[in-house]
Amino acid sequence: MPPPDPLHFCADALFDLAGRGLRRTLRTWIPTEGMRGTLDGRPAINFGSNDYLGLGRDPRLAAAARAAAEEAGGWGPAASRLLAGTTPWHNGLESDIARFKGTEGALFFPSGYMANLGTLTALSEAGSLICADALNHASLVDACRLSRAEVFVYPHRDMAALNARLADAQRRGTRRMIVTDSVFSMDGDLAPLPELVEIARRHDAALVVDDAHATGVFGRKGRGAAEHLGVADEIPVTLGTFSKAAASVGGFSAASATVVEFLIHRARPFIFTTAPPPALCAANRRALELFDGEPERRDRLWANQRGVVDELRGMGCRLTGTETPILPVLIGDEAAAVAVAEALLAAGCYVPAIRHPTVPRGSARLRISLSAAHTEEDLRTLFRAMQEFRGRGGSE
Ligand SMILES: Cc1ncc(COP(=O)(O)O)c(C=O)c1O
Repeated sequence: MPPPDPLHFCADALFDLAGRGLRRTLRTWIPTEGMRGTLDGRPAINFGSNDYLGLGRDPRLAAAARAAAEEAGGWGPAASRLLAGTTPWHNGLESDIARFKGTEGALFFPSGYMANLGTLTALSEAGSLICADALNHASLVDACRLSRAEVFVYPHRDMAALNARLADAQRRGTRRMIVTDSVFSMDGDLAPLPELVEIARRHDAALVVDDAHATGVFGRKGRGAAEHLGVADEIPVTLGTFSKAAASVGGFSAASATVVEFLIHRARPFIFTTAPPPALCAANRRALELFDGEPERRDRLWANQRGVVDELRGMGCRLTGTETPILPVLIGDEAAAVAVAEALLAAGCYVPAIRHPTVPRGSARLRISLSAAHTEEDLRTLFRAMQEFRGRGGSE
């Protein structure tokens, strides 16, 4: 008899996921031109990336990284930031982020996920209260879990529920924080930031906004959702990432000089990890320059967005949000969503099917995400493919 396998539950779980249409695979994307490439060898236009401004294939980011790697005399710093891992490139990037976001300071993390974990766990403690939108990104959900704070999850964008819970916490004298995405990445809608600013003020709560999908995308200068919604200088702590519109890597927390200094002492995912390479900082600085210097990229993105919203609406698609470059088309059933995504891929469009556990069971969807780099021909191909799916009776 073979010895018992203490890891047999892995195979059981995978078998179960397959049975429910939820088993995933890592597919290989090889870019060719613009938003085109191959997915596992099949030619496709990419409607599944976060490269909103089309910087993913911009040679200037790679050139900035190359130059910095040469100047720094190497690739990795081989030390954490608090030891010998802080270089002039890290300092320069943090100054640029602060200037861009209009804050006194900023702290750079190896990823947005780590920025979220580090910031939330540092700014809360056992006995404090975090109020979190029900549709917050998984990184914020995990951060709340790690924080040891009491977590109140309010229904999506439900300001009355949030207000009532904060009023109660204020009466009891509990330390309180509101945490929200600015763009909800699976529904493609926006947080009501002006109301949140107001409620946070009324109840003396810290407001922390994850601007991952809005940075570089929203606002005349691309500063993010707060600029777009007229509350640019009223968010005490903004979280962000270079993994979306900058098509790079690395996260940040932008806040007052005091909060940033506090994070340097308390944010464990900042303290107990190796500093990101100087070359990455240089590429990210270049991306911030391009956010500022090439607003026409945002214009193209939003023109594409308006065209696609009109077309999908005309086809009768059920969109969960129409305010952002993320346009989720609700399908419902998990297996059906996968089948439609496969049909779209066969027609030359990579549009991922988003399923449980990323979204609630029974609310599987196609998630179309748009870029300034999508050409008219790319969009026409998408419309033809979607029309065919609609023609075969697909809706929900
Ligand atoms: C809203 C949101 N926050 C944070 C992150 C994490 O960012 P990163 O990919 O840089 O870890 C993501 C996506 O990855 C996201 O969608």
